[in-house]
Amino acid sequence: MAELQKDPITRSDFIGFTVFGGLIGAALTIPPIAFLLHPVIDVDVLGETDVDQEYQEVGPISEVPADEPVVFNVDFPIRQIYGDEEIQDLSGQGEGSGTTLTNAVWLSWRTETDEDGHAGESFRPEWLDETTEGLTPEQISEAEENLNILSNSCAHLGCPVRWVLIEGEGEFLCPCHGGIYDINGGYVAGPPPRDMYRYVDYEVRENGRLYIRHEYDAGSEYPENGPQQPYVV
Ligand code: FES
Repeated sequence: MAELQKDPITRSDFIGFTVFGGLIGAALTIPPIAFLLHPVIDVDVLGETDVDQEYQEVGPISEVPADEPVVFNVDFPIRQIYGDEEIQDLSGQGEGSGTTLTNAVWLSWRTETDEDGHAGESFRPEWLDETTEGLTPEQISEAEENLNILSNSCAHLGCPVRWVLIEGEGEFLCPCHGGIYDINGGYVAGPPPRDMYRYVDYEVRENGRLYIRHEYDAGSEYPENGPQQPYVV
């Protein structure tokens, strides 16, 4: 009887090939995946903002009259968190690089308005005509309660809004698609789905100046919109 041919691959050979193949596969697969995921693993991209969270000065609140808003430019330092820190430093975009993001911030005093946005009485504190510094805690509270602190970015698609006078009446007008808001930033007409974005973290200080952090109302007053920021800041 012919001798049975011996199986050319033994069990130990098979295990050896499997382990070896696994090692080769891991060596080829892990580096590209690690490269792709490195920024995500290294920093919590969704949990952080790249804009510094310190308070930044806006300006003296006494410069805002009762019947029209005033725009101030505020520079927020940028703390770049995306990508490798070493590369950020090499590119000059890392922390402390001096890179800033300028926000145009509209300030106005809370004002009574009707449903068409026509302005009535303004709640600008009368003492501001004579007292611009050395504010008392009561004066600070009154000012903080009555200030509208609004983003310049239209709540539709982010175009910069402007304050215009039409037949003697003022309104925020968005030049892109005609969105209109009243002096409080309240929605009046056009495609925007909501009021203007408001800064929600702010302080009036004893020196009569306003300070804000780079935080909007998008995630609180309008939870259905999610934790978004204005399209253009
Ligand atoms: S971006 Fe302002 S109305 Fe469309």
